[in-house]
Amino acid sequence: MSLINITIDNIKVRAEEGITILDAAKKAGIKIPTLCVMPELGFTPGSCRICVVEVVDVPALVASCAYPVREGLEIHTNNKRVARARKMTLEFLLANHPLDCMTCEKSGSCILEDLAYDLGIKKSRFEQNKKELTVDNNNPFIVRELDKCVLCGRCVEICNEIQQSNIIDFGYRGTKTEIIVEGGTDLRNSNCVFCGQCVAVCPVGALIDKEAQGKGRTWEFKKVKTTCNYCGCGC
Ligand code: SF4
Ligand code: SF4
Ligand code: SF4
Ligand code: FES
Repeated sequence: MSLINITIDNIKVRAEEGITILDAAKKAGIKIPTLCVMPELGFTPGSCRICVVEVVDVPALVASCAYPVREGLEIHTNNKRVARARKMTLEFLLANHPLDCMTCEKSGSCILEDLAYDLGIKKSRFEQNKKELTVDNNNPFIVRELDKCVLCGRCVEICNEIQQSNIIDFGYRGTKTEIIVEGGTDLRNSNCVFCGQCVAVCPVGALIDKEAQGKGRTWEFKKVKTTCNYCGCGC
């Protein structure tokens, strides 16, 4: 790929043509917040709009995780307009979120919580009835607390495209959209192999490893290398 010249936050950057603004910024040491994207898996749905940036001469803000760079682009990742839009997007998400970080298993490793902290949002300006969805908790491995789901689509991608299990998907429409299990049932009564991949990629506390529940905060656990004795491949 050929190298092109762009400007990010008034810094001249050389980037490979066609990579995303997000990747170009990352290579230049400029951090753009994200929520839905999984770059390592090439998953860039452009759905959460947290990563929006301003491109000079492009009327609307663009999702940096999905917008390719080209010669001469002038990009602003954190000016007033961008910050205002990002804050509003986050406030819309929080308006319909339980906000029980104090007891949430994900607290400390939750992207939504981190974003609220980074953007200094204590409460949402928007009033909305909170979702009250049934917690899927009748299996031994995974708790699905979909009131906390931000509909990023990561779990759907990993289950369907990587694990090829096709257990979960988006269901219903508009404000009623939620992640549903095949056949309209729960995980226990589905063909879920409980590989745990959806839990691993969920950026918030909507999918929780049941075994770890109540055992401590994420920073209290020690990570060790181990051999998976029950992976989704069934090898
Ligand atoms: S999912 Fe994140 S933001 Fe929501 S309650 Fe849990 S820690 Fe807080
Ligand atoms: S545990 Fe695995 S198979 Fe079950 S829903 Fe999650 S990703 Fe799909
Ligand atoms: S359950 Fe988690 S990974 Fe799946 S869409 Fe909701 S927030 Fe995203
Ligand atoms: S991270 Fe770019 S739209 Fe979600």
